[in-house]
Amino acid sequence: MASGAELAGKRIVLVVTGGIAAYKSAELTRLLIKQGAEVQVVMTEGAKAFITPMTFQALSGKPVRDSLLDPAAEMGMGHIELARWGDVILVAPATADAIAKVTAGLADDLFSTIVLARRCPLIIAPAMNQAMWANPVTQANVTRLQQLDPSILVWGPDEGDQACGDVGPGRMVEPLVLCESLVAHFCVDKPLSGKRVVVTAGPTRERIDPVRYISNDSSGKMGYSLAKAFSDVGAEVVLVSGPVAIPVPQGVKVSQVESAEEMRLSSLQALEEGCDIFVATAAVADYRPATAADQKVKKSADSMTIELVRNPDILSEIAGLKNPPYCVGFAAETQDVVAYAQQKLARKKLKMVIANDVSRSDIGFNSDHNAVTLITNENVETLPRLSKPALADVLVKHIIAGYQKAL
Ligand code: PMT
Repeated sequence: MASGAELAGKRIVLVVTGGIAAYKSAELTRLLIKQGAEVQVVMTEGAKAFITPMTFQALSGKPVRDSLLDPAAEMGMGHIELARWGDVILVAPATADAIAKVTAGLADDLFSTIVLARRCPLIIAPAMNQAMWANPVTQANVTRLQQLDPSILVWGPDEGDQACGDVGPGRMVEPLVLCESLVAHFCVDKPLSGKRVVVTAGPTRERIDPVRYISNDSSGKMGYSLAKAFSDVGAEVVLVSGPVAIPVPQGVKVSQVESAEEMRLSSLQALEEGCDIFVATAAVADYRPATAADQKVKKSADSMTIELVRNPDILSEIAGLKNPPYCVGFAAETQDVVAYAQQKLARKKLKMVIANDVSRSDIGFNSDHNAVTLITNENVETLPRLSKPALADVLVKHIIAGYQKAL
């Protein structure tokens, strides 16, 4: 199993019910914590006969919850808070009695109440004597439960030697396997897990002298929103950012640059470490002063001419590499938006261009919103005006679909 924090940020309610496999849940807690999860253990009275709450408290770093009526909780409704807290509820081990209770919809203790009040997925890891598991009542309960709520997952039981001396199905799935299955469960929503994405964002500054530069109004909001959206779907994201005044999204690596040339070098360096998707959101200055003065330029004549030279086109260079990543460009246009963007798609050899009309003041540069047209060789699709974070989520879905199709 990968040693990284595969469950970082995930909140897991681990319900331990009263079976001999309860001792294995201590190891499960340790593995979940090692993977970065936040674990809140809930124990039934039966579970406490097999293992002490102190063991779970030490491993999870949180006091075990075992009481339905919690005077410490606001409004005395700790069970409802807990039901809403988790990203998943895992009942491991789940005894025959626990499964029967869940199927019947009882709510007479903390465990059964949070299961009934939950909004998150429920996973059950049965553990019991093989005859109890084989009993038609238990089998009917499991079948009924999944008929009532097909989203409920039942993992196990495994077959093998049992604590009571019997052999057969009824053993709780091993903690390592449960932990791996949870990682895989959360990965379903992380289609870019294991992939690297490089995003350029913000403006560049092209120096005239130590205190003056040529730049533009890009705030970085579009690029930073995309970086977050890519990170949310599991990608490792490197943000190559020009000077902006917004915070870097959590979990995203950033390389701060100033000029187009610095952005180019930093992007190429990020690519060397691996890049599956490259998204150029930055408003890179097309020209820079031919020379940047070492000292502040003094006023003299009534007019002054600054000679400008072309900057390298970072996106074109990367899309033209021998084995380029999946390259997506933006097109900032003020007229004939789609036609100019289509020309950029062909000229820069891109897979997708996201065109925005930057003549509008309610979208584009420095706005909290944007409205774009998505252009590929096969399709032109106009998306509605959205906040930049919401738009980024939509764009990432389209980019993933295109990337997967191109594989
Ligand atoms: O940062 P915000 O305030 O949120 O605003 C977002 C935005 C308007 C800057 C963004 O949505 C956008 O349109 N970015 C692209 C701006 C731009 O420079 O477009 P362009 O049409 O000039 O360039 C085409 C593409 O080539 C872009 O992907 C650009 O990043 C890239 N390029 C351009 C020039 C250059 N020298 N190197 C490049 O990589």
